[in-house]
Amino acid sequence: MNDPVIVIVNNLVLILCIIIIIIGISIVWTSAIGAPWVPTPGDTVRKMLELAKVDQNDTVIDMGSGDGRIIIIAAEEFGADAIGIEADPLRVLWSRIRIRRQGLSNKASIIWGNFYNQDLSDATVITIYQFEPVNNKLKSKFTSELKPGTRIVSYSFPFKDWTPIETNEDPKIYLHII
Ligand SMILES: C[S@@+](CC[C@H](N)C(=O)[O-])C[C@H]1O[C@@H](n2cnc3c(N)ncnc32)[C@H](O)[C@@H]1O
Repeated sequence: MNDPVIVIVNNLVLILCIIIIIIGISIVWTSAIGAPWVPTPGDTVRKMLELAKVDQNDTVIDMGSGDGRIIIIAAEEFGADAIGIEADPLRVLWSRIRIRRQGLSNKASIIWGNFYNQDLSDATVITIYQFEPVNNKLKSKFTSELKPGTRIVSYSFPFKDWTPIETNEDPKIYLHII
């Protein structure tokens, strides 16, 4: 008969291996379809939302919402309705827990999916922190789906051939209006 302690240890090792494999697959998958998770610093998030003049009349969509920080700050501090789109299931789970814990479920939500396949037409503000090739690939989706007047705030990376309405130099943030 197996020693119960060894059985428990074996099961724990198995669970740990499964978690590590899921995290590894998530990182590889999200890096293949966009930028990997690098969180925007909180002060920069606030600067982005200020630059876009976000208020309680806005619907903010964050393209690749990571741990949900932009969505949470947009809803909690700026009063906006906020929706995150995130491909990584672990970050979706974590950000949904954070939203619920902060009592923001009526204003903030996270869609688990690939942002290339999601309808963006409800947005009045788009926030994005992706590499420049991803920004460029999204340009036609933005111009076809977003309403005139929708603001796009991009952290760190510009859009090829688009001149920003406003640029914050440090940290680098680009504001565009459709
Ligand atoms: C640089 S992080 C930014 C996270 C968050 N927006 C922030 O500023 O803290 C990029 C995020 O986009 C997600 N992502 C990359 N490609 C994606 C795609 N095609 N659809 C949905 N999410 C994507 C990644 O999983 C990652 O969490």
